[in-house]
Amino acid sequence: MRLDQGGHLTHGSPASMTSKAWRFVSYGVTARNDDPELPGEMIDFDNVRDLALEHRPKLIVAGATAYSRKIYPAPFREIADEVGALLMFDSAHVAGLIAGGSHPSPVPYADVVTFTTHKTLRGPRGGAIICRDEFAKKIDSAVFPGQQGGPLEHAIAAKAVAFKEASLSNFPAYTEQILKNAVAFGSALAKEGFRMVSGGTENHMVLVDLREFDAELTGKEAQEVLDRAGITTNRNTIPDDPRSPFVTSGLRLGTAAETTAGMKEQEFELVASLMAQALRSRTDDGALAGVRDEVAALCREFNPYASFTR
Ligand SMILES: Cc1ncc(COP(=O)(O)O)c(C=O)c1O
Repeated sequence: MRLDQGGHLTHGSPASMTSKAWRFVSYGVTARNDDPELPGEMIDFDNVRDLALEHRPKLIVAGATAYSRKIYPAPFREIADEVGALLMFDSAHVAGLIAGGSHPSPVPYADVVTFTTHKTLRGPRGGAIICRDEFAKKIDSAVFPGQQGGPLEHAIAAKAVAFKEASLSNFPAYTEQILKNAVAFGSALAKEGFRMVSGGTENHMVLVDLREFDAELTGKEAQEVLDRAGITTNRNTIPDDPRSPFVTSGLRLGTAAETTAGMKEQEFELVASLMAQALRSRTDDGALAGVRDEVAALCREFNPYASFTR
């Protein structure tokens, strides 16, 4: 999936070493459509299939980094089978949502599933690869000695803890709350005048197009203003963004961490209103300080590490 359409750098962006090792051909999302019955900006499976028939790839890569919809593995599998390709599903962002049963699992469909352990899976920085038996030896030796030296035992131990937590019976309730919070957050942002890319969210992420809120406001400026107000966000390109990846017209927001801290829909509605206030009064230092105080009060109330508080 092309970087500017929501794909990840490591999926063959010219800036990534992956593009030096393999020849990637990238697909994208459908055109924007503001009809809520027929939302656009979703993975364009016709485009995936046409490109696969034209280029006959050895491997099809599914998975995204700035995409707020469910990624269904079955249509990818069908296309891979049609052209005789293997299917790798990079579930980096949504691994926790899959473990919690809130998103479809790629495991029955993909030959290889990769994921990071530090996003919705809520573990340490790192990753994991699972695959069909027939690829296990090759992948193991590509990792070691192919790319790694010594194992990071502390990270491996932390991954084990994350996997254990994700297997507990309360984890699905956590991932469902992440999704409910994202829906509430997105709707509240829409009421404030922000446009959600694809018109909604089905995961932990809200991808906001800032241009409707304020045509002059870039993702870069919004991120910097919100940093000053105590709200951490990530500037991000949106599909067909006219601005560069360093400036961008979008913001990528996530609900996973604050859901762990205990926030529910009403707190995310408050965060949306604080964000809008901060961005509307971005040249007013006093107003920004006021928002920052409200953010600090919210963080004191929802502290994921309450037992460590001084
Ligand atoms: C889809 C996707 N794949 C992979 C990664 C991990 O990349 P890296 O190993 O460079 O941290 C990320 C995010 O960090 C991602 O969003």
